[in-house]
Amino acid sequence: MNKRLNVYYGKREVGELWVDQAEIYHFRYTREWERKGFSIGRVLPCGCGELHGREVEYFWSNILPEGICRESIERELRTDGSDFALLCELGKEVAGALSLVKPGDEPPASRGSYSAVLKEEELSARLRNLPHRPILHRNERWSLSLAGAQNKMAVLRTKEGIRMPRDGAASNCILKIASADFPDLVFNEFICMRLAREVGLPCARVDLLRIGDVWALAVERYDRHLHAGLVQRFHQQDFCQMLGIPHSLKYEFHGGPGLQECTQAMREISALPVEDAFLLGQWYTFNLLIGNMDGHAKNISMLYKPQSGWRLSPFYDLVHTVVYEDIRGVTAMLPCGREVNLRRITPSLWQSTMQSIGLPLRPICSSAREMKNTLLSSISDFSLTERLGRSPQSDVVRRLLRSLENCVRSAGFLPTAESE
Ligand SMILES: Nc1ncnc2c1ncn2[C@@H]1O[C@H](COP(=O)(O)OP(=O)(O)OP(=O)(O)O)[C@@H](O)[C@H]1O
Ligand SMILES: [Mg+2]
Repeated sequence: MNKRLNVYYGKREVGELWVDQAEIYHFRYTREWERKGFSIGRVLPCGCGELHGREVEYFWSNILPEGICRESIERELRTDGSDFALLCELGKEVAGALSLVKPGDEPPASRGSYSAVLKEEELSARLRNLPHRPILHRNERWSLSLAGAQNKMAVLRTKEGIRMPRDGAASNCILKIASADFPDLVFNEFICMRLAREVGLPCARVDLLRIGDVWALAVERYDRHLHAGLVQRFHQQDFCQMLGIPHSLKYEFHGGPGLQECTQAMREISALPVEDAFLLGQWYTFNLLIGNMDGHAKNISMLYKPQSGWRLSPFYDLVHTVVYEDIRGVTAMLPCGREVNLRRITPSLWQSTMQSIGLPLRPICSSAREMKNTLLSSISDFSLTERLGRSPQSDVVRRLLRSLENCVRSAGFLPTAESE
């Protein structure tokens, strides 16, 4: 197996990644990048020579898919089960702007190669087959990877339609479909992401698509920009990458980071740490309000733009999870590190959590109250009737909205204006 990969940022070589005989990961920036580039990860500082060890390994392994998605890809590719083997196969088009390229191979061309626009039947068949065949048709020179455990595919979506990127060409859209465990997930995530926008949070744009008999959520990639037929990539790192920890530690109750640790790491690299801390507080509070127990360290990222440096990325993967009874009622990041049920979070515990990340109480309290009010009115106005008509999905959406409304209404952790 090839144990060496070159890392590119567009056409520019960033450095070299390799694994030694003892399976230890090493990374070294090129001289040129050390002079003119930037640190691609908090745990990969520029100017420190050769870096090696677990943090280097986890920075890279965090770009790989997880759970059964990973298993089915490995089956299809017949790799040896190691992260490095998967990085070799999937690393050309990943979250962020980097491409991992085998020595001797070219980095993906800026005007990449794509399939023809897919016909509806073809796309719906691919989506239906995602859980069993994660669209790895070797002869399509497929080489892309996204983290997460849900079924998804990365595609190029333009006015003309949807195409499959080939050989590491850039995608600009993530298509997510429901799973057998959570058949209404697409609607749930669509509603929550739209509500997040209504309350004024920066988050990825989403669209609900009916492709043949398959419902899909189209999530616009905020780390891509389509202009004049070319897709520009922007770099990002999620908070597991930022902290140099494996994806298995993404939940705080599994020993992973909490809100405080994430905020501290964010403050070290953010170009606007005060604004980003406030956004993190809003993200956390929004998750409590909508009953999202899945706001873990891989569901939040930092985005790098050459003009503005590192900032908290727009939000994504927002889901009203408490509607699924078998998910525990404990938030992925615990209020002040305490494992309390969502319903038992008191105003004083919430306030201490906000203070623990350095937020002044008055502004975050009034923002949280405003969020709650806007959520309630947006939920009651929310309608998908035009798209869904009298289909069975209408009932699904109504049930989700009812559950969401209950959740927001019964949130007892917000202090009243008087008690603040
Ligand atoms: N709109 C977006 N733009 C750019 N990158 C994104 C976007 N949405 C998600 N990502 C990246 O893709 C990864 C997987 O996406 P997402 O979290 O939606 O998947 P998931 O399978 O639902 O995750 P989970 O395992 O948390 O349920 C994220 O961790 C993030 O790195
Ligand atoms: Mg996720």
